[in-house]
Amino acid sequence: MSLTESLKIVVVGHVDHGKSTLIGRIFHDTGSLPEGKVEAIRKASEAEGMEFEFAFLLDALLEEQEQNITIDTTQIHFRTSKRDYVIIDAPGHKEFLKNMVTGAAQADAAVLLIDANEGVQEQSRRHGYLLSLLGIKQVIVAVNKMDLVGHRKEVFDAVESEYREFLAQLNVRPAHFIPVSAKLGHNVAKRSPELSWFEGPTILDALDSFQPPHSQDELPPRLVVQDVYRFDARRIIAGRLEAGRLSVGEEIVFWPDRKHSRIKSIEAWGAKTPPSEVRSGQSVAITLEEQIFVERGQIGAIPSQPPAEGREFSARIFWLDKRPLPINELVELRLGTQLVGARIVRIHRVVDSSTLAVAPEDRHEIRRNETAEVTIRARRPLAFDSGDRVMETGRFVLLLDKRIGGGGVIFGAEYPAVTRDAVISSNISWTEGEITRESRARHFGHRGAVIWLTGLSGAGKSTLAVRLEQGLFRRGVAAFVLDGDNLRHGLCSNLGFSPIDRAENIRRAGEAARLMADAGMVVVTALISPFREERQKVREICTEGGVPFAEVYVNAPLAVCEQRDPKSLYKRARSGEIKGFTGIDSPYEPPLRPELELRTDEATVEASLARLLQLALALSNAGAGVHPGDDVGAGI
Ligand code: ADX
Repeated sequence: MSLTESLKIVVVGHVDHGKSTLIGRIFHDTGSLPEGKVEAIRKASEAEGMEFEFAFLLDALLEEQEQNITIDTTQIHFRTSKRDYVIIDAPGHKEFLKNMVTGAAQADAAVLLIDANEGVQEQSRRHGYLLSLLGIKQVIVAVNKMDLVGHRKEVFDAVESEYREFLAQLNVRPAHFIPVSAKLGHNVAKRSPELSWFEGPTILDALDSFQPPHSQDELPPRLVVQDVYRFDARRIIAGRLEAGRLSVGEEIVFWPDRKHSRIKSIEAWGAKTPPSEVRSGQSVAITLEEQIFVERGQIGAIPSQPPAEGREFSARIFWLDKRPLPINELVELRLGTQLVGARIVRIHRVVDSSTLAVAPEDRHEIRRNETAEVTIRARRPLAFDSGDRVMETGRFVLLLDKRIGGGGVIFGAEYPAVTRDAVISSNISWTEGEITRESRARHFGHRGAVIWLTGLSGAGKSTLAVRLEQGLFRRGVAAFVLDGDNLRHGLCSNLGFSPIDRAENIRRAGEAARLMADAGMVVVTALISPFREERQKVREICTEGGVPFAEVYVNAPLAVCEQRDPKSLYKRARSGEIKGFTGIDSPYEPPLRPELELRTDEATVEASLARLLQLALALSNAGAGVHPGDDVGAGI
């Protein structure tokens, strides 16, 4: 029987609930142990004055495996009369939760162990939660150590109803609850008179009744590119086909670049006849008909079944690290072979994985063992899937300080429309001139917008604009400052400070801001823009063009500005050297209903900046992640 037909199972449960014993027992009862092994261990135990335990058996097996580095130590095999099984991630591996979350272990079925004596524990519930997160549907719950509770049916029934109720909330419906004693071998491979009241199957019968591994061959093909090698003139693309199948001659598109070609050959070193098809789970090396630029991290797919693509997506994440994961902190995200900086930009809901209690307050971080529904934004576009469509390209890992901090599964991914033209084009701007505002926003992870700062010279517009630009940029928002002084060096170099010139200055700055916002940027302007009517016109230019606009009154009393006088202009205006200076001999009309007013003589730069950031992030839909009091100043 080939390995691909074996069923991959995980045995999970609270630390002392008997995982090793159960696995040792399964090995023993299925005759999967090497000749003489049990006897040897029995003797060794006796020599040390200990009672023989099946758990020792497993320890001994694992130890042996570990010495033999050619064997994958996390996997051990056994077989029943029906088929082969692989137990992935055998107990003793402390990293179990981590492996499970990170996809080191993608199981077809799970056996969840609960100690009849101790009942459902926190860990039992967390494991249940993980099974639901990872979409493992074939589940057996083994209520172990029935011998310690006098084989009483009431005990079993109580555990079953408590745990069933918990799992039902997660949409996990175990195929069987089975009372067992792993130590005595009751209901593992054989029934026992002590548990004769139980009419269901034994553990092995229940496992045998499970469906063979859901064939990934029928899923949309996903070729995860690991490397591209050059051999003489050829480029060989090496990777792993995580789902679906691919054949020679088939058209393949590499995401997120959308470069495409046909598969020319499938390489197989040492094989007499190269295969014409590869199937899910196989490592592959292919060559293409055309030489296109493909690199590690990309995902190959067929045109009719593209992956989703973008910088932003929704996910359920499970956090494992002691250090909480704060919103907006830059972490590394690994999805397939794609590695990219990313942040949680929104936390929608935080749930304790054991109690399922929803965190009551508005949370800015996700703590250990919590699970959360979040919006994640990556620094560049990624190709991915919804976990319920293709789990292998729908799950990811988050690294914090180079450590695996947690993992997650994407949900609700939006897929591109499948028309050949939309998907296939060697031209990156595949719908040139037809890139909608929405697709631009999806691409950048936010909308374009205009934040219009107005106020007297010296009120603090430029300072705030520059800091805001940095703050946005740090959060992955494409931001740009249009500063009055700077514009007057170029676009507006032919304008002076007469009312007519100022009006034209504001109009040009407004049109330029709107164009840039159309292109997807968050534009921050810093112009005195003293006239209400001109500012109103700019607002209309923007809003009529569908660009979100906010007017911010950067307000400091004239006396304060005059005292600051960074460029000594007030002094020169007072002395009559400069004519028509705003606030001195030219009017400033304060906004009547600005979206935000900042008193820069009263608040600190940091405090004003925090409010500005909040406004800009909200206006551009870039996330509501910043809250007053957040240390937004740090590192900006
Ligand atoms: S606006 O009124 O047309 O919006 P803008 O913001 O572009 O003015 O330019 C103001 C900057 O130009 C000031 O910060 C200052 O450095 C400089 N400046 C030179 N002359 C004047 C003036 N008469 N009034 C105001 N600002 C002036």
